[in-house]
Amino acid sequence: MEFEAIVESLSYKGLGVIKHSNGKIFYVEGVWPGDIGHFEITTEKKSYGYAKLNKLIKKSPDRRDPPCIYQGNDLKSCGGCSWMIANYPAQLREKLNILKSLARYNNLNINEFLSDIIYDQEFNYKNRAQIHKDDMSLGFHSKSSNQVIDIKECKILNPKTQNQLVYLRKNFNKIKTDKVFLDDRLDDSDLLHTNLGFNQGNTKINELIKTSINKYLTKHLKGLELFCGSGNYSKILKLKVDSLKAYDYKISNPISEQGITFVETDIYNKNFLDLLENNYDFLFLDPPRSGLKNLSQLVSNQKNLETIFYLSCDPSTMFRDIATLKKFKIIKVIPFDAYPQSAHLEALTILKRS
Ligand SMILES: C[S@@+](CC[C@H](N)C(=O)[O-])C[C@H]1O[C@@H](n2cnc3c(N)ncnc32)[C@H](O)[C@@H]1O
Repeated sequence: MEFEAIVESLSYKGLGVIKHSNGKIFYVEGVWPGDIGHFEITTEKKSYGYAKLNKLIKKSPDRRDPPCIYQGNDLKSCGGCSWMIANYPAQLREKLNILKSLARYNNLNINEFLSDIIYDQEFNYKNRAQIHKDDMSLGFHSKSSNQVIDIKECKILNPKTQNQLVYLRKNFNKIKTDKVFLDDRLDDSDLLHTNLGFNQGNTKINELIKTSINKYLTKHLKGLELFCGSGNYSKILKLKVDSLKAYDYKISNPISEQGITFVETDIYNKNFLDLLENNYDFLFLDPPRSGLKNLSQLVSNQKNLETIFYLSCDPSTMFRDIATLKKFKIIKVIPFDAYPQSAHLEALTILKRS
């Protein structure tokens, strides 16, 4: 049965939140706060459900025509850029709203410590992207299916990765795998056989993250860096920290810098904490979306710890982890818009021992 509703807000996954007249919350894709529409329930659970938009009656004032022919909400559209339906200032505003509500959900009061969101250009920023191939097509997966949508141009790729997409299309028959990575660290001729692995996907925002780290980090003696990758942030940390030990399970081509020791290990292994020395005064962590559930145990073992910098690509797990810390208080939360046109949000939280 259809019902009329207004989209009140966005969930942390970027879905529209509407309320049924029976009081139940439903989540909807492809809508924006302020939209009024006719909705139909697709899945109903005990306390919430999912619905789809059947008819848009009144558009949110934030809406715009998405400037990409592949953007959409059906199975024939590319699965990316679901927020392209709204103008960029509205996207930034909603990311801040989501961040605040995630903090509230975890009983954290961040309002007085929250900086303005740091952003750069809304298009042409992506330095790395996974491209899929089947017999006929080269592009991205469609929304919630593995069908490959043939893509000739992508608005969020940076000029080099866009040119790489064109190069791959010209060399379609030479691609022998079902996926390949565009990567602006690579020359075109290396694309077919090289995967350099994780890279912060927005080079300019990555530099702005480093600028913030440098600005807010004070002098420390002994630093512990978790999830260091190949040392993207290690060098900037080392400017303020006398010695740094950096852990990740895969450290390929780490930067070479005196005073930094890189160690390859599984941080999620239950014995990891036993392996750590217990005299660090600074902790930097940049985990995958799953966060670090045993952060409070790690921190309580470190009696000298004064400062924590938690960089996160999923603030829901970051605030979950931070909420477990008893003796540390938040002094700054800096959001970064590393992935415009999507609900994805990067944030740095700085904590000091209270
Ligand atoms: C968000 S990335 C951050 C990487 C790095 N800080 C950077 O900026 O390039 C998360 C990192 O977590 C690492 N990682 C994922 N699971 C891990 C595990 N179980 N143990 C150790 N490192 C892990 C990945 O290798 C990846 O480098």
